[in-house]
Amino acid sequence: MSTASLKVQSQSLNDRLSKRNFDRLASFIYRYSGIKMPSTKQTMLEGRLRRRIRATGLTTFDEYCDYVFDHGGLESELVHLVDAITTNKTDFFREPKHFDYLRDQALPALSRSGVSRFRTWSSACSTGAEPYTMAMVLDTYLANNRDGSYSILATDLSTDVLEKARLGIYPVEVIEPVPAEMRRKYVLQAANQSRREVRMTPYLRSKIGFGRLNLMDNRYSVGEPMHVIFCRNVLIYFDKETQGRVLHRLCECLVPGGYLFIGHSESIAGLDLPVRTVANTVFQRL
Ligand SMILES: C[S@@+](CC[C@H](N)C(=O)[O-])C[C@H]1O[C@@H](n2cnc3c(N)ncnc32)[C@H](O)[C@@H]1O
Repeated sequence: MSTASLKVQSQSLNDRLSKRNFDRLASFIYRYSGIKMPSTKQTMLEGRLRRRIRATGLTTFDEYCDYVFDHGGLESELVHLVDAITTNKTDFFREPKHFDYLRDQALPALSRSGVSRFRTWSSACSTGAEPYTMAMVLDTYLANNRDGSYSILATDLSTDVLEKARLGIYPVEVIEPVPAEMRRKYVLQAANQSRREVRMTPYLRSKIGFGRLNLMDNRYSVGEPMHVIFCRNVLIYFDKETQGRVLHRLCECLVPGGYLFIGHSESIAGLDLPVRTVANTVFQRL
């Protein structure tokens, strides 16, 4: 590494966000994505932005913020800024009771009410583990129980994660929670075993439509109302008021009798939504 690039790196590492620039970033992030950015998250934000600043060829937070907020850089940086600030942790069969409920309660009840084409939506899908898990559960349910079909819409704010989700390639250890029978049917081993990667089958990938959608939008253009919506582990990043607005809009996208799943650490308490509770963090549209 040259002396010049070493100098650039050490400058970046010692650099801190000024209060003014932290406030500008935090307020933009909150307005655009709903994500709360209290001052306790400053070190995390700095860490994530350092990588982005290096990629732009700029060297300091001041230069970056001047470029973004004062010199028209926001439009081109928006996508990267969002990719840098979003937390994308996810797993296959995360919070597995939800998938038991979907298979054993929600889908049979919807079938009994005459639904044969299930419309479902993973509304903060991250790198795809959630919608692929939904697809495996739906596909298996229909194969075992009855004729019918399903569609899965998978959306997220971050284009980075959407790209990974579309590709459907994962390190082999990531699919450990997937039951062996489903692995055999829906997961392909890499031809070269030393790569230790797997890929969801083309069939399963074809079942999911991926797209970018900001839950902060005033309305969600998702077509016909859904039978099942997953909105898990994203509400925790929003304040209560934003959670209420998002959940009301999601309810507008559900058919009466449709199901809403939120994360186990999330709650709808005090939000006066048109739903009844049917299981822990599972709700049915009235
Ligand atoms: C922690 S992940 C949760 C993924 C998955 N739902 C799960 O439970 O495993 C949160 C996801 O929410 C997305 N996100 C954050 N703010 C968002 C917004 N305003 N609109 C849509 N997605 C958002 C992030 O990009 C991230 O992929």
